[in-house]
Amino acid sequence: MTKLSFAEPVGDAMLADWQHVHNVIIATDTLSLDEVRERAGRNCLEVAYLEGEPVGCTTVRPPASDSPSTATVIARVLPALRHQGFGEQLYQRALERARALGATTIETVVLASNEDGLRFAETHGFVEIDRYVLPGDTIAYVDLRLA
Ligand SMILES: CC(C)(COP(=O)(O)OP(=O)(O)OC[C@H]1O[C@@H](n2cnc3c(N)ncnc32)[C@H](O)[C@@H]1OP(=O)(O)O)[C@@H](O)C(=O)NCCC(=O)NCCS
Repeated sequence: MTKLSFAEPVGDAMLADWQHVHNVIIATDTLSLDEVRERAGRNCLEVAYLEGEPVGCTTVRPPASDSPSTATVIARVLPALRHQGFGEQLYQRALERARALGATTIETVVLASNEDGLRFAETHGFVEIDRYVLPGDTIAYVDLRLA
């Protein structure tokens, strides 16, 4: 298995790596560096590197007071680098992090146009619980929960 290295993004250069992966994949909702900084303050973010280049990233939204046992886990891998097991490595690390934060219910969210993401989530045991279009968007988001 190809060896990735993983890092919590600290500082603008690493936050920009996380931002790059996010914005390539979620092109309908790109984030500024300030927005990424704000997310880094409330979520657990990670970047995966292959030979110094970012290949993927994760978001773990920790359990919150309105849903104290639920965390949201999202893995992302750049399209050109998929189907090599990188998503699996990222997902397992994020899942472990969510469990360590006390989550007993795991959810994810996938853009409906993201066929790779939907298939990955379904093959990992997630089932759809909601589908909605945010104001100003045209593509739906799909919320899924680990059964
Ligand atoms: C979901 C996502 C992270 C998966 O990334 P990935 O790097 O392709 O993931 P993996 O390589 O671990 O697995 C993907 C597929 O490749 C297969 N695969 C893994 N290693 C492989 C290899 N060496 N050769 C061929 N196939 C391989 C896996 O079995 C899996 O097959 P499946 O889709 O039929 O189940 C990626 O598609 C993505 O970023 N999607 C958009 C973001 C998203 O929607 N995320 C939500 C999911 S939590």
